[in-house]
Amino acid sequence: MPVIRFLTSGKEIEFPEGEEVNILRISLRHDLGLPWSCASGLCGTDRITIVEGAENLSGVRRRERDRLGELLDDNVRLACQTYASGDLAIAWDPDQKGIDEDSRAGKRLKTVWMEGSKHGDQSADDGSDKAERA
Ligand code: FES
Repeated sequence: MPVIRFLTSGKEIEFPEGEEVNILRISLRHDLGLPWSCASGLCGTDRITIVEGAENLSGVRRRERDRLGELLDDNVRLACQTYASGDLAIAWDPDQKGIDEDSRAGKRLKTVWMEGSKHGDQSADDGSDKAERA
């Protein structure tokens, strides 16, 4: 099974071969420590550096391109906008502060994301952004 290694938190997660998983969602579901805030490609809180496995990622979405610009060339992605289909290793700024998951907004967003699935989950990750290859 493919493995996503969350290097900054020292955690990792396996997922079934043949599946494609959203990186923020799998972090939320398994408490893997990735900071986040808007969960919709707008704030940039969930910036991750792809250490290994860039070839196993979904194409760059318009929101990522708008938010990250030249950082894309440095292997930076937004976890909420990115899907993995194979082995991956990611890291992030350990000083990055995310939303307070115990706040009202944090609880609501987390619930939406943990319940959502990739397809038909417009409220969580706004799949309306058409993916494009970098
Ligand atoms: S959590 Fe705000 S851009 Fe992904």
